[in-house]
Amino acid sequence: MFADVNGLKIAYQEQGRGTPVLVLVHGFPLNSQMWTPQLDELGDAARVLAPDLRGHGESEAAPGPYPMDTLADDLAALLDTLGITEPVVMCGLSMGGYVTMAFQRRHPTRLSGIILAATRADADSEEAKGNRTATIKAVREKGIQAVVEGMLPKLMAPQTYEQRPELAKQVRSILEQTSVEGAAGALEGMRERPDSIDILKTLDCPALVLYGSDDQIMPRSAAEAMRDALPQGKLEVIGEAGHLLNLEQPEAFNNAVRRYLHTLEGPK
Ligand code: MLT
Repeated sequence: MFADVNGLKIAYQEQGRGTPVLVLVHGFPLNSQMWTPQLDELGDAARVLAPDLRGHGESEAAPGPYPMDTLADDLAALLDTLGITEPVVMCGLSMGGYVTMAFQRRHPTRLSGIILAATRADADSEEAKGNRTATIKAVREKGIQAVVEGMLPKLMAPQTYEQRPELAKQVRSILEQTSVEGAAGALEGMRERPDSIDILKTLDCPALVLYGSDDQIMPRSAAEAMRDALPQGKLEVIGEAGHLLNLEQPEAFNNAVRRYLHTLEGPK
């Protein structure tokens, strides 16, 4: 499905109905297809919405940069377009987590819960910024393959990558759908993102931090720092999973989300 959002055609997938609304925000350079096991399974627990961020998947690309605030504002505008006025639960993985924290900064009253998976609250180090700049150049010169080859093996736990070639193939095909403009715009936006640890300290509802035990991109200390900053933060580590823990261990991931949604319902 598509919606007109801030002048762009934005694609989204949807399952389930009613409340709560669970917005799944994908990582870089992925799209809503990375949430297939959640769209398939969680529709009985929530109205599940999974957008393609601008420049990713089937969504239109605009010239970059794409600050995380802009991507968060796109999500708010998508909710407006869909007539969703009640607060939502937002679940962001990696870059999707950066967008979720930007959403909390800009639209705090529109959130009733937060799930932060395989992400971090701190800004890029100078070294990471330099790597972003080099990657932007490589993508512009060589196309999206310049990112795909380097990233694919790191997106999963080493054992997943070796033992589940069909999953690696599926992830590769998702990565390859990202436009050059989209990848460069998102990399520029991530490079400039601010530290969000202080905003997490202001969240006044339960929050869930999810981390794959074999994540090769995010350190466990980043997940612990978010848990410690969140006044009602809980960390769950999912075993035998890397950065794409929702795809590698969908049952464990979905169960954690279900348990969390139950805690938001409060005592009956
Ligand atoms: C992601 O998976 O979204 C990226 O690895 C995040 C990043 O590059 O910081």
